[in-house]
Amino acid sequence: MKITVIGAGSVGATTAQRLIEKELGDIVLLDVVEGLPQGKVLDMIEAGPVYNYQCRIVGTNSYEETENSDIVVITSGKPRKPGMNRDALLKVNVGIVKDVVGQAIKKSPNAILIVVTNPLDAMAYVTYKVSKFPRERIIGMAGVLDSSRMRTFIAMELNVSIEDVHAFVLGGHGDTMVPMLRYATVAGIPVTELLSKEKLDAIVQRTRDGGAEIVNLLKTGSAFYAPSASIVGMVDAIINDKKKILPCTVLCKGEYGFNDIFLGLPVKLGKNGIEQIIEIKLNKEESDALDRSADSVRKLCKNISL
Ligand code: LAC
Repeated sequence: MKITVIGAGSVGATTAQRLIEKELGDIVLLDVVEGLPQGKVLDMIEAGPVYNYQCRIVGTNSYEETENSDIVVITSGKPRKPGMNRDALLKVNVGIVKDVVGQAIKKSPNAILIVVTNPLDAMAYVTYKVSKFPRERIIGMAGVLDSSRMRTFIAMELNVSIEDVHAFVLGGHGDTMVPMLRYATVAGIPVTELLSKEKLDAIVQRTRDGGAEIVNLLKTGSAFYAPSASIVGMVDAIINDKKKILPCTVLCKGEYGFNDIFLGLPVKLGKNGIEQIIEIKLNKEESDALDRSADSVRKLCKNISL
């Protein structure tokens, strides 16, 4: 399998590193900055004798090298600075993503596209408009990351193994995301049985603020270890046809009552990309929260001119 990662910043380069260490396929790391992908890749190659990876990796500024990729991961764009929300990145990143998608799909018309650039839901929409790919092959990475954060905070609060904690977050990847407490479990036990309302509310809020918490600590960029791990989890599910149920950003065609909008929903990920969208019952509070989140994504998308 051939996997191209576009953008050799912290998210893109760490993704490439994780992919090569897991030997998930032949990797191309592309960036517009001359020397950056080449330098980072050479550094990764030089780790090969210690790690013994058995696949190839190339760093390049040219889309020629990306030809016939099975998966293209789009991380290009500007990250946030402290005090900014993800939506503030819209203008600058629309142009970047539009250009990247246009070039990438010319070389890999059958690829599955994983979109990572923020504001995520709007960038997935741009990717869809530019590529005109079927929705099964345009997948936004947000829910896996937000859910991983939520699982981390639950495990930290209860001092239990992260392996036992299941939880997922739906909706847009913004301040209105919807952490689904009612479906969160620890070894099958509903988390609502294990923690007080105050503790659960705090976990929900910390999940929503998860990206900003890291931005405020780093001051010069945003998170990349958990985002890259989330991307690689999705790539692994696709390449190994795992049929994993993961929250991913997908184009809605009537699911949950939404149309023509990208939102985080539970999907089945396998070799064809999104193989199913799982519709679960929401109570009034949850569906109101999902509506609010969809509203904010819709508002943002209205400001996109391609
Ligand atoms: C975050 C950014 C990557 O949530 O959106 O950390």
